[in-house]
Amino acid sequence: MKKKIELLMLGVVVVAAVIVVVLTSGGNGRNGIDSVEAAISSSELKKEITIRNVTDEIVHFSIKSADASVSSQEVSLEIGKISHFKTAKPLFITFERAGRTDSYELDAGKPYSFRYDEDDLLQIYDGSHGREDAVDLAPYVPTPMSVVEKMLELAEVDADDLIFDIGCGDGRIVITAAKKYGARGIGIDIDPQRIRESKESAKEADVEDLVSFRMDDATKIDLSTATVVTIYLLPESNALLVPQLEELKPGSVVVSHNYTIPGWEDKEIESVEMEDITGSHHTIFLYRR
Ligand SMILES: C[S@@+](CC[C@H](N)C(=O)[O-])C[C@H]1O[C@@H](n2cnc3c(N)ncnc32)[C@H](O)[C@@H]1O
Repeated sequence: MKKKIELLMLGVVVVAAVIVVVLTSGGNGRNGIDSVEAAISSSELKKEITIRNVTDEIVHFSIKSADASVSSQEVSLEIGKISHFKTAKPLFITFERAGRTDSYELDAGKPYSFRYDEDDLLQIYDGSHGREDAVDLAPYVPTPMSVVEKMLELAEVDADDLIFDIGCGDGRIVITAAKKYGARGIGIDIDPQRIRESKESAKEADVEDLVSFRMDDATKIDLSTATVVTIYLLPESNALLVPQLEELKPGSVVVSHNYTIPGWEDKEIESVEMEDITGSHHTIFLYRR
């Protein structure tokens, strides 16, 4: 009996101790969350802004945060190099453009590139990625569907074709070619998010047996098996791709949305102007290798 009472008392003490621990840790639980929040250092919450120099001159700029929490930095960015800035907030960039000082807000987590605009003046544009090991061919801007349809029609795509879309975005060009003409297609994009979207769209369109998508630097892929290549890239990026396009089989077709292929003037067979449903103007250039 005495033994039972001792055991019972021991039980009560243990239960009480557990209650005390739980209650105290309840208070600490809140502190625990706070300390986890504190532990995720602000640097981990920060994202990276990258700024790439795609011009042929050293670009000088200054960059600072709006609230001056990051002191202004003066940067001289060499040709082809990328500056990286960790930040949780937008940053403001200032640089000289046509004799005056221009300022822009840059969003945390986004890639940007210095390029020349159509008047050959320095400008900062959205980029596609901040990877050091790959060229940024163009930011993601999808070709409107009416233009996609026209590009495929001009290329006279059929079920015997193998289409490569270089910088495939959401995969719409090769997916449309597969769905409408039964053509096989390969989409390449450097952005993993675009590749995920492309694969999902191919599944929805039920053309997974005809198309495939892979995350890769398009400047390093072999195009020799393609019969049709589609591109919607910046003019300087089209120029970079020329050595790969030269490897295409004679008779292969290249369709470029909005920009010509430098040095391929003798291969241009047609150019078509059109408007999309929003009234925006587009040009499609058709080349035969
Ligand atoms: C203007 S979008 C064109 C998308 C699609 N071809 C279309 O017409 O709807 C350009 C695409 O090129 C991709 N890109 C940029 N640099 C690249 C590279 N080095 N290799 C592969 N893709 C790249 C971007 O991620 C973006 O999705």
